[in-house]
Amino acid sequence: MNEIISAITSRRATKKFDPSHIIPEAELSAILEAARHAPTAFNIQNVRFLVVQDREQRRLIREAAWDQPQIDDCSALIVMCADIKAWEKDPARYWRDAPTAVQDQYVHMIQQYYAGHEQVQRDEGFRSCGLAAYALMMTAHAHGLHTCPMDGFDFERVKEIINLPADHELVMFVALGKQLSAPSPRGGFLPLDEVVKRDFFS
Ligand SMILES: Cc1cc2nc3c(=O)[nH]c(=O)nc-3n(C[C@H](O)[C@H](O)[C@H](O)COP(=O)(O)O)c2cc1C
Repeated sequence: MNEIISAITSRRATKKFDPSHIIPEAELSAILEAARHAPTAFNIQNVRFLVVQDREQRRLIREAAWDQPQIDDCSALIVMCADIKAWEKDPARYWRDAPTAVQDQYVHMIQQYYAGHEQVQRDEGFRSCGLAAYALMMTAHAHGLHTCPMDGFDFERVKEIINLPADHELVMFVALGKQLSAPSPRGGFLPLDEVVKRDFFS
């Protein structure tokens, strides 16, 4: 089977990480560098990956996450955040390698699309982070690592712990590391025709 399809279908959420596994900084950087290639609308690159390695920060976050051990035991905890005002922060830099006419066109479209549309700005951050989180998970998988996507935590408390800027949103965590034991059997999938619809909903 194609390796990408195999990675998608074999990935599982890891609940037990090996706490003794240390991820080399160069490997973590390579994973993040690959994951940041996930797409963003108008290339506004509104995803921020907060890497939490400090033990005390991990302890505080674990406390705010129903004491889930993955927070402490993973090799790297990535807090996925969105800069919901990225669209207005010197947007020409998102198209700096493009010809000036293209750059100007995109800056104009970005302004038109986001200015005054608070809900769109926030939704876009969640879309971008969802895609980037999955890219991160798949890249980690390619490195022989395992991941757990997580949103089981007190968002307001975690925002305080990480000192999240007011114009950012906290989206989710991706814990990554070495799996210590195989996950329990899958919960099961819905019938395909319940999740796949054709042309319109009946
Ligand atoms: C957005 C999101 C949040 C999740 N939050 C948690 C979590 O807080 N703790 C946890 O152990 N698993 C969490 N999971 C993992 C799911 O429980 C798991 O992905 C699901 O049961 C399907 O299992 P699988 O990923 O092994 O196929 C989360 C998954 C997603 C996508």
